[in-house]
Amino acid sequence: SESDRKISLDLYEFHKDIMIAAKNNLITCKKNEVLEFLARRDLNDDLINEFDIGYLDSLDKLSSILKKYDKDIVKSSGLFYEQDGFFSFKLKNRLLFPIKNLREKVVGFSGRVTDDSLPKYINSPETQIFSKRKILYNLDKTKKHLSGEVKVLYVVEGYMDVIRMWQYGIKNVVSPMGTALTEDHVSLLKRYADEVVLLFDGDEAGKNAAMRSLDVFLKNSFIPFVVFLNKGEDPDSFLQKFGKEKFLKILDNKYDLFELIIKRMFKKSINNVNLKTKYLKILQSKLVLIKDELLKESYIEKISKIFGIDPQIFKKGVDFSTAKRI
Ligand code: CTP
Ligand code: MN
Ligand code: MN
Ligand code: MN
Ligand code: MN
Repeated sequence: SESDRKISLDLYEFHKDIMIAAKNNLITCKKNEVLEFLARRDLNDDLINEFDIGYLDSLDKLSSILKKYDKDIVKSSGLFYEQDGFFSFKLKNRLLFPIKNLREKVVGFSGRVTDDSLPKYINSPETQIFSKRKILYNLDKTKKHLSGEVKVLYVVEGYMDVIRMWQYGIKNVVSPMGTALTEDHVSLLKRYADEVVLLFDGDEAGKNAAMRSLDVFLKNSFIPFVVFLNKGEDPDSFLQKFGKEKFLKILDNKYDLFELIIKRMFKKSINNVNLKTKYLKILQSKLVLIKDELLKESYIEKISKIFGIDPQIFKKGVDFSTAKRI
């Protein structure tokens, strides 16, 4: 409605004002723990400016902003607690990463502690203008850097991964801000890229997240590649430790996610006909998710070849599959 629209416009302005105040405050910040964190994580002024990173240690810096806006706007941003008629900022004393939509409007913030305390990150809650499942961090910036015949997008877990890759000149990178990729994320990826490469953390969680994301990609008839980092590293830590050349070598070593899963199933069931049959039925149920007939056809071929079976027989189970979705 008209009033919703008005609230949204004010909310965008409100977030932008906070972003500017927080950034100015960070640039002049003299607090030891903050300076140490920035130094340790190699966040220089260029990066602070490029990503509009901020920090707020007192509400004084927001007082003129808070006066300017309706109380309802302040409340609906979800960024403040209200106590005895006063507001307090939920992300106080945290490094602030503004999250922007495709029109480059700030729609939310994520705040990181500058020490080892928990929770490490606190994000804006879902609001009228912010839905985590619909937004990819850095897509607003990266979309101008996608060029060439095959537009490639790297998908990483976190803010620091995006920022570090950007610093090293790899600008085609976005983050779902965690590991859970939704259908909305995948359709965004498909809209902007021809090729997606999942580059999650080198731990069980990262690996599992990549594997788990297969179905949501299949539903969009879009197959990603996946790359595995050394154990315990994420793109940020890897680049800082080993540098760009080694990183680019890792990126070269990418696997078609669906093919990888098919091959794993084949290897696991090589001496077990029952297991092989079970896996083939699972694969049939996966193929049912694919709407694009050409894509479906090429994976029917791949699976038949890898498992050494007749594609015509395998195919019969695909269109009329009764196998449960797994
Ligand atoms: N995340 C989050 N809330 C948390 C933890 C993580 O929203 N409590 C999201 C953030 O977008 C974060 C990403 O998940 O950037 C990756 O998390 P993680 O790998 O745990 O971050 P680290 O690499 O450990 O953190 P950092 O590099 O910032 O020190
Ligand atoms: Mn972690
Ligand atoms: Mn992680
Ligand atoms: Mn990480
Ligand atoms: Mn990290």
